[in-house]
Amino acid sequence: MGSASAWVEGHDLMSDSPRGMTPLGVLFALLIVVGAAIALLEKALRYPSLAHALGPYLGLRNHVLEHWVVSLAIALLVLVTIGAVFLGLKKLSAGLNRWRDRVAGLAFTKESYELPPRDYSLGALVRENPAGTDQVVLGLSDEGKPVYLTDHARSMHVHVLEQTGSGKTRSVIEPLAFQDLWRGRGVLVLDGKGSEENEERLASMAAAAGRLSAVKNFTLNPFRRSHTYNPLHLVPDADPQAVRLPGFCGQSVNDFWTSRNR
Ligand SMILES: Nc1ncnc2c1ncn2[C@@H]1O[C@H](COP(=O)(O)OP(=O)(O)O)[C@@H](O)[C@H]1O
Ligand SMILES: [Mg+2]
Repeated sequence: MGSASAWVEGHDLMSDSPRGMTPLGVLFALLIVVGAAIALLEKALRYPSLAHALGPYLGLRNHVLEHWVVSLAIALLVLVTIGAVFLGLKKLSAGLNRWRDRVAGLAFTKESYELPPRDYSLGALVRENPAGTDQVVLGLSDEGKPVYLTDHARSMHVHVLEQTGSGKTRSVIEPLAFQDLWRGRGVLVLDGKGSEENEERLASMAAAAGRLSAVKNFTLNPFRRSHTYNPLHLVPDADPQAVRLPGFCGQSVNDFWTSRNR
C-alpha cells in the first residue's frame, strides 16, 4: 500500500482495475486466430497425408484461386464481415457499459435545466408597476406574477450571478438601468469590457427615456469619442461636499448609508 493510495474496504482506489478487451482488441484477436488457422491449413497442405484429409479445403481453395470474381467477392465479404463484427462488438460493449451503470445505480436519465422561455412585455410590466417611484420590475415569477425589487432592498447591493453570455446584462442590468432612466434617476455604469454594444445600448435607452442629451460617456478607447471631466476645476462657490453620497443621490433611500449608528 503506497502512502498516496486511497483505500476503501481493502480496495485500492488509486490503482486501475484490469480493463476488459475493447471491441478493436477482440476484432484483432479474431483476425489473428483466422489468419493463424489459414496459415496452418496452408502449411498442412505440404504434407501429402494431411493434404488428403484436407480435400474439401483444397478444392475450395483451388476454385477460389482460379476464379478472380469469386476471390473478389470473398475479399469484399471479408471486409463487410470485419466492419459488421466491429460495429456489433462496439454495440455490445456500449450495452455492457449501460448495464454496468444500471447495476451500479449510475444510469442517469438526461434532463435539461434550461428555463423555458416566457413571452412577456417588460414595457407593460413597467407601466403596471403599482409603486413605480419606490420599486422596479425584475421580471416574472414561475407563476407568471411580476417580481419587484424595492429601491430600499436594491440599495444594499445586488449580485447577478450566471455564466458569461447567459444574459445578465441584457436581462437584468439593462432593464434596471432603463427603469432608472425612465424614472429620472441617475445612472452610473462602469463597464470593464468597454464594449461599443453596451455603450450604444445605454445611449439608446437614454434616448427612449428622452434623456439622451444628459448622457456623458467616458471611455479610454482611443478610437472612440469621449466626454472629458476635470476634477480639479472648481467653479466659484462650488460645494466641496457635492459628491457626498446624500448630496449626489438626493435623499438617500436607505438610512443604512447615512445613519451614524451603523
Ligand atoms: N433573452 C435573450 N434573447 C436573445 N438574445 C439574448 C438574450 N439575452 C441575452 N442575449 C444575447 O446574448 C449575448 C450575451 O448576453 P449578455 O447579457 O451580454 O450576457 P452576460 O452579461 O451574462 O455575459 C448578447 O449578445 C445578448 O444580445
Ligand atoms: Mg455582461
